[in-house]
Amino acid sequence: MKIEFTLNGTRVSADAPADSTLLTVLRDQLNMTGTKEGCGVGECGACSVLIDGRLVNSCLVLAAQAGGRQVITIEGIHDPQGGPNDLQQAFIDYGAVQCGYCIPGMVLAGEALLATHPQPTRTEIRQAIAGNLCRCTGYQQIVDAIQATARLRSERQEKISHV
Ligand code: FES
Ligand code: FES
Repeated sequence: MKIEFTLNGTRVSADAPADSTLLTVLRDQLNMTGTKEGCGVGECGACSVLIDGRLVNSCLVLAAQAGGRQVITIEGIHDPQGGPNDLQQAFIDYGAVQCGYCIPGMVLAGEALLATHPQPTRTEIRQAIAGNLCRCTGYQQIVDAIQATARLRSERQEKISHV
C-alpha cells in the first residue's frame, strides 16, 4: 500500500505491505537510519520518533498509522546550519553519549518533554525518559543535559521577552 506523510518537514511517500511498521519503512525505505531498532517490541525506546509531536515507539506503530501525519526523526533535529541543536550539544557537553545507540531516542524524548514542560524537574525528566533504556551512561548525564537545555532555553526566552 502507498503511505504518504510528512517526514522532517518534507512530504514523502512509501510503498509498503500493510503490516509494515513505521520503523521498517523509515529505515529500509526512507533511509532514516538514525532511528534504531533495539528490542523490536516496545521495551527499549531506541526506535523513538515524534508523530505530531508525540513520542512513540516506531516499532509498535504501523507505517499506515503515520499517513497524513507529521513525523520527526533524529535527522530532523538540528540547528539552522545543520549542526547539533542545543539539546544535542548538551548531550555532548555533559558526556551523555557513550555507545550512542539510545541517543536518537533520548534526544527525541527530551524534545517531546521540553515542548510541553519547558522547565521540568529532574523527576519529570526521569519519567519522560523512562521508556528509553541506556545500558551505558547510568542516566545521570542524560538528565543533566536535558535539565541544562531547559535552563538555557528559558534564559533565552526571558531575554527575548525583555527586548
Ligand atoms: S525497538 Fe522499539 S522499543 Fe525497542
Ligand atoms: S549511550 Fe550506549 S545505550 Fe545509551
